[in-house]
Amino acid sequence: MKNILLRGENLTKYYFTHKKKLKIVALNNVTIEIPEKSVVALVGESGSGKTTLGKILIGIEKPDKGKIFYNGNEIKLNDRKIFSNLFQIIFQDPYSSFNPTFKIEKSILEPLILNKSYFENFNINRNDLILNILNEVGLDRSVLEKYPYELSGGELQRVAFIRAIITNPKIINWNNFTIVTPQFLNYSKHLTSIVVSAEYDGITIT
Ligand SMILES: Nc1ncnc2c1ncn2[C@@H]1O[C@H](COP(=O)(O)OP(=O)(O)O)[C@@H](O)[C@H]1O
Ligand SMILES: [Mg+2]
Repeated sequence: MKNILLRGENLTKYYFTHKKKLKIVALNNVTIEIPEKSVVALVGESGSGKTTLGKILIGIEKPDKGKIFYNGNEIKLNDRKIFSNLFQIIFQDPYSSFNPTFKIEKSILEPLILNKSYFENFNINRNDLILNILNEVGLDRSVLEKYPYELSGGELQRVAFIRAIITNPKIINWNNFTIVTPQFLNYSKHLTSIVVSAEYDGITIT
């Protein structure tokens, strides 16, 4: 049996429509366990609450009821630091998740600046690390000098992947992420993945 890395217990989430007229029950008492180094898929029709559950599990949204446990220990829901050190999310539309005025290099470096300790603790050379990862996902170093609009959707998804893994997260939430290449899977073997998708057939995971 694999260790349960992440557990969401009795998660309930409400949203309210414009002007608070109507209450939407996005999640109703959901309990889920994510084993370590596994790939767990959240599959269901549009509007069934997949994205909401994925966001709550990695601390981007707060549940109205319920608890989150990491390695058996409850995480305080407002402890942003813990959540941001452990989890990363990659969204389907890469263009909307990049600042259009930043060159790719700056976008990749952003999470590193927020997580300085990663370099301080492990004495890693930033440039070596970035060039190594670019190479692994099949991107040329010239992308660093480009702006998001100068890259194809596929290239930008690779950059989004780099930006997510570069801080060494424990869990990646792939929200409707459709491109799963051998390189991604190679990296993901050391990680735990939550794959959120409306299309079961669209995902190929081995
Ligand atoms: N920020 C929000 N404000 C209001 N309603 C929301 C919000 N986010 C999601 N919802 C509603 O919650 C339900 C679940 O949404 P979501 O988790 O995005 O589903 P899925 O990812 O499965 O398509 C839907 O009815 C959606 O309209
Ligand atoms: Mg969704």
